[in-house]
Amino acid sequence: MRIDKDSKLVVLTGAGVSAESGLKTFRDNDGLWENYHVEQVATPEAFLADPELVWRFYKQRYFQLNEVKPNPAHHALKKLEDYLEDNLWLVTQNVDGLHLIAGNKNVIEMHGSLRTCFCSRCHQNYQMVEVNLDSAIPLCEKCGGYLRPDIVWFGEVPYHMGRIYNLLQNTDYFLVIGTSGIVYPAAGFLMIAMDSGARTIGVNFEAPRNASMIDEFHSGKAGEILPGLVERWIGQ
Ligand code: OAD
Ligand code: ZN
Repeated sequence: MRIDKDSKLVVLTGAGVSAESGLKTFRDNDGLWENYHVEQVATPEAFLADPELVWRFYKQRYFQLNEVKPNPAHHALKKLEDYLEDNLWLVTQNVDGLHLIAGNKNVIEMHGSLRTCFCSRCHQNYQMVEVNLDSAIPLCEKCGGYLRPDIVWFGEVPYHMGRIYNLLQNTDYFLVIGTSGIVYPAAGFLMIAMDSGARTIGVNFEAPRNASMIDEFHSGKAGEILPGLVERWIGQ
């Protein structure tokens, strides 16, 4: 199958895309949620109850970013953007920023970013590099409030949802990669794209929970499968 340059394509990525860069997924064996409870580190209540623990978890994940780089799956998606230009939008649940480092421009980080944080009191935004991470709970320079990681926690509404729904309703292809299809609202995107008449394509190590809505499923590692698929789609 060739993908026409004028076609619109939306990609949704999850932790599986970064697995081959050496970052742990959430729900696979030895995933992050095996060593931590979601309720302890990824909810607003957790931050109120134990901000130090929450910061330890996200600092550790932030520091780990120094050791990782984009893998062939990220590079293939950059190649696809070079071909489709602004007809491609990449929505990611990942907070590692690797799609941006790979060079994709049309990226929507719906679950936030490990590389930024903001004040829980006055909402001032900060780059993580400008924050004193030696302190157990970094404080806002403006108001002295607790800074918090710029991560969309369970119970919070992901970023840019209006824009994302709009893209999904107007796309020719919806490509979903490396996500278990368990966490909503992202898990519902397949249904929206399908209802809007898009062709849905999946690349995942194992069949995601919402696999019944995928027209064309490729089982395996994203870094091994995606480069070949993209070459076929763009006709190289
Ligand atoms: P999960 O850990 O739930 O799922 C990762 C998926 O990637 C699984 O279906 C794996 O089979 C697949 N996978 C693993 N390695 C792969 C590889 N090399 N190539 C292709 N697929 C591979 O991660 P997400 O679906 O991203 O939210 O999780 C969704 C959200 O839940 C995350 O954004 C996070 C988490 O709680 C927040 O922290 C807000
Ligand atoms: Zn503040």
